[in-house]
Amino acid sequence: MIRPAQGRPFYYEYAWAYDYLIERPVPKDCDGIAALIAARGVLPPSRFLDAGCGTGRYAIELAVRGFRVTGLDVSSELIDQARRRQIAGAAFEVGDLLELKAPAPYDGILCCGVLNDLVKEPERRAAFRVFARALRPDGVLVLDVREWQGTARKKTREPVFEKAIDTPRGGLRFRSVTTLDQVNHQLLVHETHELRANRRVSSAKFDFTMCRWTREELALHLAEAGFTSGEYSDGYDPTAPAGESDRLVAVATHP
Ligand SMILES: C[S@@+](CC[C@H](N)C(=O)[O-])C[C@H]1O[C@@H](n2cnc3c(N)ncnc32)[C@H](O)[C@@H]1O
Repeated sequence: MIRPAQGRPFYYEYAWAYDYLIERPVPKDCDGIAALIAARGVLPPSRFLDAGCGTGRYAIELAVRGFRVTGLDVSSELIDQARRRQIAGAAFEVGDLLELKAPAPYDGILCCGVLNDLVKEPERRAAFRVFARALRPDGVLVLDVREWQGTARKKTREPVFEKAIDTPRGGLRFRSVTTLDQVNHQLLVHETHELRANRRVSSAKFDFTMCRWTREELALHLAEAGFTSGEYSDGYDPTAPAGESDRLVAVATHP
């Protein structure tokens, strides 16, 4: 059965393994994020929402830089991971970003890799309306998504991603196999986690759909929700070679 990412073992049963499996250059990305928002007047100690914060790694890095960050995620298991390494300036909450009731307007919102999980068009639209409501006037939204063309090239070349690592809980083997749905710009993903510990093997298998974005789709959704001055790049690192990324970064202001 193909379903959206809700219930994905990656975010729930195996939340503890997320950062082992998906490595990101978080400090370097946060250098880029801080530069993008500083250029639009958002500086520490501004209030930030990390919408879909996962294990909190970006929220914590921004808090280290002096921002006051609320990390929000729909997975209580991932929020548990974030709370374990909590530091001053970062607080974490379980919740659905589509139902966000902003306690006070944020100066900035970060949304890293989350909109790929919103498969239905009304949800994709709603996310931008929520962000617009949650920002103060001239607040800044920074987001990244998987870019359709780059992802299609990469997943045609390498449909299988595998990683085997030793963890404090045992040997973990992760495998994902991706098929492209060219018509709907979606990925059909089959994921397996297999954990070996004390001569026991436990595994979780999951099939789901993820969506990918084009720059035009992002621009349309940002404009529909009233965002202006959209800028796009293929990563947070301005020194990285252009055209090799499967990522799309957007920054925009809500007047
Ligand atoms: C690919 S992970 C990225 C996590 C984190 N932003 C990072 O870059 O390390 C996507 C995250 O979005 C969260 N998510 C997906 N849909 C959500 C929603 N509607 N509301 C809140 N969080 C959501 C998932 O639980 C997951 O933690």
